[in-house]
Amino acid sequence: MCGIVGYIGNKNGVPVVLEGLSRLEYRGYDSAGISYKEDHELNVLKKEGKLENLEAIVNEKKVTSSSVIGHTRWATHGEVNDTNAHPHGNDDFSVVHNGIIENAFELKKELQAEGEVFHSQTDSEVFLVLLTKNFKSGLSVKDAVLKTFKALEGNSSFVVLPKAENNIYAIKRSAPLVCGKSDDDQELLASSDPYALIGFVDNIFFPGEETLCFLDSSNNRIDFFDLDGNPSENYKSDKSRKDLKVETKEGFDHFMLKEIYEQPKLINEIAKIYKSEYSDQISIKAQDLDTINIIGCGTAWHAGLCLRNIYETELQTKVNVELASEFRYREPFVSSKDLGLFISQSGETADTIACTELCEKLNLKLASILNVGGSTLNRLCHENFMIHAGQEIGVASTKAFTMQVIVGHFLMRLLQGKHPTADFEKELEVLKNRIQNILDDVSSIKKIANEVHTCKGYIFTGRNKYFPIALEGALKLKEIAYVHAEGYAAGELKHGPIALIDEEMVSICLVGPELFEKTLSNIEEIKARKGKILIVGPKDNSKLEEISDWYIPLDFSDLNYFSPIYVNVVMQLLSYYIAREKGTDIDKPRNLAKSVTVE
Ligand code: AGP
Repeated sequence: MCGIVGYIGNKNGVPVVLEGLSRLEYRGYDSAGISYKEDHELNVLKKEGKLENLEAIVNEKKVTSSSVIGHTRWATHGEVNDTNAHPHGNDDFSVVHNGIIENAFELKKELQAEGEVFHSQTDSEVFLVLLTKNFKSGLSVKDAVLKTFKALEGNSSFVVLPKAENNIYAIKRSAPLVCGKSDDDQELLASSDPYALIGFVDNIFFPGEETLCFLDSSNNRIDFFDLDGNPSENYKSDKSRKDLKVETKEGFDHFMLKEIYEQPKLINEIAKIYKSEYSDQISIKAQDLDTINIIGCGTAWHAGLCLRNIYETELQTKVNVELASEFRYREPFVSSKDLGLFISQSGETADTIACTELCEKLNLKLASILNVGGSTLNRLCHENFMIHAGQEIGVASTKAFTMQVIVGHFLMRLLQGKHPTADFEKELEVLKNRIQNILDDVSSIKKIANEVHTCKGYIFTGRNKYFPIALEGALKLKEIAYVHAEGYAAGELKHGPIALIDEEMVSICLVGPELFEKTLSNIEEIKARKGKILIVGPKDNSKLEEISDWYIPLDFSDLNYFSPIYVNVVMQLLSYYIAREKGTDIDKPRNLAKSVTVE
């Protein structure tokens, strides 16, 4: 989703804002722009396409300014072009926006009826026009921002650069927003992601919902106000974000590949972290729960599916795994004796946040399996089980998925009132080593990717604990190779999808030691219809060797619960190398955003 960076201080803020925007490129965008003050006048430069297009015109004009706001846009309303790019500005204000103004159409009609003129197709411009109207009615900048924000419906964050004052205003509702300041208070920044502020601030502030952040450069301070304009304490400050560092590819061709290779190290560290962080018990116990509702989107939902079977078996508790975008619009049959367990890498996914807020209203206990601290989800949940995966830059999630499932296992033990890592340490050690073995020699995966990358389509199949991995493998391939790929339960093929099978289709069949014969019979059905077959399954198996066109043998021994994660690493690498064959933008795939902060 959109990236926002704002700077006001005693230095040239243009390179700071551009650096911040470059760090947010991974979130996905289609245009970029800045607004800056020069001789007390507001100027706007914005271009569709990559950030470098904007940088070219900024450098050509040799722009310098100590008051700057910038934006990378992921289009929701209006096509991708210069006019619809942010910032939106006029003589009085420049604004940048992340989110959706749900009543923009109605407000725009009212404003147009009053003679207001619009230049773009965006909902964001409605905020600018209404803000300007409110300001011209005689309100102060602060009161005009608050009055305008209160008139809007939907989840949004805004950063405002006013001409009339040398300050910046920022405000949010269920959309990411942070602000920060240097230790000497000389530099004040705002952003949609703390990652953009690394190195520029020494203190980071996480404003609560509907809290106005006032970056007051006259007094070198940041103040917070509620919607009525009264001073507010509804924010958290955090110096500890020193753990954040600007990620580099460290010699890998893509962040995604680097993050795939980080997995053994992360697996090696997580048990130590949980041993120290969870020596005593958590407040939630499985025996007190009616149902565990695991909720997420995309890969996070797949992680939830990986946990369902084992939770039901080990906890003897009913478990629902829900797509957040569907759950939020049902009238779910839940009770205050249920747990809402939200899985999210970013902690900002709009649908997942909406479900968290719904479950909060329904008095459920709220827990997260989460990567980004300080995120909206982090603040909403009573218990947060952090996955400690570090910054995940690749839009296609890899290491976060692996750590979500592992931490989900730890949480299962905590819900049983047991030590989180007991019984798992040996399996984790085996898992780490087995994944490392795969990573140490990817030649066969590369070769297969080269041989299958031109096929018409891909069907991923798996049974039971491998079915979620079939879904995850298909999603990865779709995301970064832009090809048609479907994940199916292997037993489902004969209920329709088998009609797709022909010599142009590749079936990627996940075979574990469990349900081996059943899974094999599904593969026979594909073979009988001349489908191309890639098997990922137990090693040294002549039957698998004979029936497959390609066979990736794996050692499943001693892995038990973690075998799906092991198989999934092959899926990650296979999708990565197929995408390389296709020459797509693997870290920033078209149309995608790293954190989907709109519905
Ligand atoms: C995963 O590769 C995708 N980028 C996407 O499905 C992602 O998992 C989903 O948008 C949920 O994001 P979250 O984990 O940050 O909530």
